[in-house]
Amino acid sequence: MREKASFNFAGKTVLVTGAAKGIGAAIAEQFGSYGANVVVADVDEQGEAAAAGWRQLGRSARFIRCDVSRGSEVAKTVAYAEQEFGGLDILVNNAGIFPRARLAETDEAFWDRVMDINLKGAYLMCQAAVPGMISRGGGSIVNIGSLHATSGAPDTLAYAISKGGIVTLTRNLASALARQRVRVNCIHPGWVASDGEMARLAAAGEGGDSLEKAISRMPMGRMQTGDDIASAAVFMTSDFADQITGQQLTVDGGISSR
Ligand SMILES: NC(=O)c1ccc[n+]([C@@H]2O[C@H](COP(=O)([O-])OP(=O)(O)OC[C@H]3O[C@@H](n4cnc5c(N)ncnc54)[C@H](O)[C@@H]3O)[C@@H](O)[C@H]2O)c1
Repeated sequence: MREKASFNFAGKTVLVTGAAKGIGAAIAEQFGSYGANVVVADVDEQGEAAAAGWRQLGRSARFIRCDVSRGSEVAKTVAYAEQEFGGLDILVNNAGIFPRARLAETDEAFWDRVMDINLKGAYLMCQAAVPGMISRGGGSIVNIGSLHATSGAPDTLAYAISKGGIVTLTRNLASALARQRVRVNCIHPGWVASDGEMARLAAAGEGGDSLEKAISRMPMGRMQTGDDIASAAVFMTSDFADQITGQQLTVDGGISSR
């Protein structure tokens, strides 16, 4: 029998990409509240203020500027986490962009940018982080997907395909790394009131009454929050999920069950 599982992450180090704001910030915040050392990796320098705020609460938090689409920055970021805290136990690949375009409007530059950040970024991070995890006897990776991975709307072509790739990356690495005790799972958020999504809705003129109407049609009557997704990430990387790998956990308040 193994020891009783718990949500105590004291002594564990978690690297969260895209954690300056939105869902990633909520994930970093929640891991910190369970005692983890947290590394915030983001292109947005706002991550420094987030990490400083958590340090004021007595938590271990660091910010490093990192564009996940650049291999050299990713390698530097993982090395930084390992140096600061003696190793990396958990990686959350959350950084992502979700610009809208249909097939005809999706030019090569648009396609490449979405793939580079949403999909290549996750592969680069896994490649950099896994050797250290294996040498520590194991680790856990969570990739943030999307409902669009399997049922994208017409104007989410590149985005949906990048998230489909995230599912394949998850399953492939889960099977490749199971023996080395590196678990790899995916979380699909539903519709989250993140900084990025609220800004997108406002820019598209979809705020106000039309937003209220859309929310009222949600099965559980509200959008998801970053905390809803963070709780799933904490569970998936905890000892409670010791035998869960290669799986997709959807946190959407029932959207996909309609
Ligand atoms: N909000 C939703 O409804 C929703 C639904 C499904 C999936 N998701 C996914 O959740 C993840 C987070 O989205 P969010 O809603 O919190 O968005 P957000 O825009 O609020 O936050 C995204 C963060 O990623 C960072 N980022 C962007 N490009 C980066 C890069 N190249 N390198 C490092 N960091 C980068 C941004 O600076 C930002 O801090 C994304 O992968 C997104 O696809 C969101």
